[in-house]
Amino acid sequence: MSQPTGNIRIVVINGSIRPANYTAKASALVVDELKKQSHVLVEVVDPTDLKLPFPGVTGDHQATRDLQAKVSVATGLVLATPEYHGTFSSVIKLVIENLGFPSVLSGKPVALLGVAAGAIGAIKALEHLRSVCSHIGALTLPLPVSVANVQRVFDADGRCLDPNVEKLVRGVATNLLHYIQQNICPRITLERVLREGVAAVVES
Ligand SMILES: Cc1cc2nc3c(=O)[nH]c(=O)nc-3n(C[C@H](O)[C@H](O)[C@H](O)COP(=O)(O)O)c2cc1C
Repeated sequence: MSQPTGNIRIVVINGSIRPANYTAKASALVVDELKKQSHVLVEVVDPTDLKLPFPGVTGDHQATRDLQAKVSVATGLVLATPEYHGTFSSVIKLVIENLGFPSVLSGKPVALLGVAAGAIGAIKALEHLRSVCSHIGALTLPLPVSVANVQRVFDADGRCLDPNVEKLVRGVATNLLHYIQQNICPRITLERVLREGVAAVVES
């Protein structure tokens, strides 16, 4: 599927469905940072709202098609996961299973964010998720961000209590946009020139 022109589309996928989860609190900072750019369209996927089937369940699943359609038109993605039992959440894995085989994530820049209650943060979750994303052909970006002791970093209203952590988390957005602007946008523009002609691209 071709990329939409003009705007950058970012899909942010949250990997926790726990009520009041910290993953969504952290990713909300990334979303806020992305939305500062007027040419960036942001869509947040909360798997709580989806009825994603387990892999291998036969039949035609609208939730799977909708998710794949959203990801297919994304310029880039943010995957946000909690660390559960020393790895990323099964929710994120279920999302990945539903993105197809081969995956519609293939060729997409993906930035990673992890949160954990523990003092060492979501390091293992992020390493495992990086490995899976790379395996399926995503362009997994360097500088994944891990938030340790997450219950102490965010209050109940989602406010970040540590400015240094907040800066790091917001950096997930700027890192992804920087990569896209450096590496993806020129390609999109070239494709558009070939498709629509120089005049259309210059006027937009
Ligand atoms: C099933 C489960 C497993 C967990 N395993 C870990 C773990 O391995 N390491 C850790 O630091 N925290 C672990 N935690 C705590 C989470 O990191 C904590 O709930 C944190 O708030 C992030 O999850 P959330 O986004 O769902 O809030 C676990 C929590 C659950 C529910």
